[in-house]
Amino acid sequence: MELATAIETRRTVRMFQRRPIAQDLLQRVVRAALFAPNPHNAQTWRFDVVAGSKRDELVKIIRQFPSYMADLLATYPADLREFVLEFSQDLGGAPVLVVISVPTMGDTHVHKIDLIAASTALQNLQLAAWNEGLGCVCLTNALWVEADIVRFLGLEQREIVTVVPMGYPSAIPEISPRRDDVVHWLGFDDN
Ligand SMILES: Cc1cc2nc3c(=O)[nH]c(=O)nc-3n(C[C@H](O)[C@H](O)[C@H](O)COP(=O)(O)O)c2cc1C
Repeated sequence: MELATAIETRRTVRMFQRRPIAQDLLQRVVRAALFAPNPHNAQTWRFDVVAGSKRDELVKIIRQFPSYMADLLATYPADLREFVLEFSQDLGGAPVLVVISVPTMGDTHVHKIDLIAASTALQNLQLAAWNEGLGCVCLTNALWVEADIVRFLGLEQREIVTVVPMGYPSAIPEISPRRDDVVHWLGFDDN
């Protein structure tokens, strides 16, 4: 797939087929994340790729997130709230969960830079997954149960950036429209 096509056709996927993902395919997708730019090439990110019975155990932890974000959920439109509650039960049936983490905060700026680097890796991961016919969702809702995920995966001294449920899509959403009023062009009229 052309890069521009991948960028413009990628969608967040929240409903997955049960079909397992071959490990060599997953390795290609995760490898794309590792090639993301990062400061001093320190590669402070970490990717835990979780499948099988470990995935089922992790889902049991993550599915608790709606009760921890009940106040926020109460502000959602009813249909979205329903969807989140339904989705949380089995994370759309995603057969694989990728957990991205960085070291816990020391210096504020260093920490922010670690998060930016992990975000660049996250987008490589999402585009590479899409290129391979997979879908995924950056599930930051899982941060509401961050401490439990850290404990389960033995990630002491690290914090979770996001969890990424991944699988073959069973439904692909419509394109989410983009705003163009967020781009400000300065100095282009000078000549
Ligand atoms: C930082 C970030 C956090 C997100 N958190 C969630 C989330 O917790 N749950 C969810 O369903 N989607 C989440 N998403 C996906 C967005 O809802 C989605 O990217 C957005 O609606 C645009 O749709 P698209 O990705 O299909 O273009 C998140 C995306 C990003 C980049």
